[in-house]
Amino acid sequence: MPQCGYCQSGMLMAAAALLEKKPKPTDADIDAAMTNICRCGTYQRVRLAIKRAAGTKA
Ligand code: FES
Repeated sequence: MPQCGYCQSGMLMAAAALLEKKPKPTDADIDAAMTNICRCGTYQRVRLAIKRAAGTKA
């Protein structure tokens, strides 16, 4: 999923907090919760990873 990986620790912490609050987050929930900056622009892949972790996307 990551390119350089610089943002990943923050992304993982934010995603874990989101999934703890909302186990099946919508796109809007993900966009609102994931405010971390990724200089490589992996936002689409981060969103997909969260959905896979939530079990809402294969
Ligand atoms: S993967 Fe490079 S900053 Fe996010």
